[in-house]
Amino acid sequence: MKKRRIKKNSIIVLIFVVVVIVFGITYTINTINYHKTYDYKLKKIGYNDNEVETIEKLSDKSKNYILTLEYNKDIISLLNEKYFIEDNLKDYIDYYLNNDSDSTDTVAIVNVGANKDWYTDTKKTDLSKGHLMLTNKFNSLDESYNSNDMVKISNQYSYGDNQMVTEETYNAFIEMFKAAKTEGLTLIVNSSYRSFEDQEETYDYYKSTRGEKEADKIAARAGFSEHQTGMAVDIQTYGSTGATFEEFDEFKWLSENAYKYGFIMRYPKGKEYLTGYEYESWHYRYVGVDVATYIHDNNITFDEYYAYFVEKD
Ligand code: DAL
Ligand code: ZN
Repeated sequence: MKKRRIKKNSIIVLIFVVVVIVFGITYTINTINYHKTYDYKLKKIGYNDNEVETIEKLSDKSKNYILTLEYNKDIISLLNEKYFIEDNLKDYIDYYLNNDSDSTDTVAIVNVGANKDWYTDTKKTDLSKGHLMLTNKFNSLDESYNSNDMVKISNQYSYGDNQMVTEETYNAFIEMFKAAKTEGLTLIVNSSYRSFEDQEETYDYYKSTRGEKEADKIAARAGFSEHQTGMAVDIQTYGSTGATFEEFDEFKWLSENAYKYGFIMRYPKGKEYLTGYEYESWHYRYVGVDVATYIHDNNITFDEYYAYFVEKD
């Protein structure tokens, strides 16, 4: 009897010991595994649950990069930006840490490349983007580039006889012209397509009269102008000049309505740090109605739109 009870007790003890060992091993393995997770490593640096959840959405490469840095809540602000592009993470952080810009501006500046000096690190305009191709201080057209669907602008819509734009731009402009006309307003194309050589002449004129720094704020270097795409028009009206166009009803009408016809003001006031150009109240670019509407409604530049929505497509 006694012997059997001892045996039974031994078995209970043995089971207990085994259970404790199994739990112990499981716990140790889980702990070791947890220490390998981003959740553990990020929290160890100081990120809270919500912040970790935001960082966890990134690729391993980005998460590992964040782990090389000290805790910084501004990284979370950058990650939550509407136009955040993961490939730019390192540049956002570098720019943010070395400048006074807030996270929204940091993302915009890095997305358009304006964290670099103008005309550095330039590449060729991606022509496959069609009417959404980009020319700016970092993207240029070849000297020989000409759109193959250029049409002449009737001089009822323009100053001078040699104005040209792409057919799509022309059709959209005519629609816009007619709509403005019904309100008693007249839109006149003052400058449109400019060849590489025309642009060189324009730029050189400003450079020789005002110096390179000033010239770069008002005219594109040859190859870097939207005018070479055939999709840009400088618009004036009777009696206006570049300096006064803003005072005319045509300007106000364009600001409120151009997007409905696919045109955007390309160099807006207050966005000089993104476009690299002084405000041009007269320069409109054709991008199509949907894109123009988005850009108008969200108050962004084409450079920002392109970086976020077009470049990687
Ligand atoms: N004025 C604009 C920026 C151009 O030269 O294309
Ligand atoms: Zn222009």
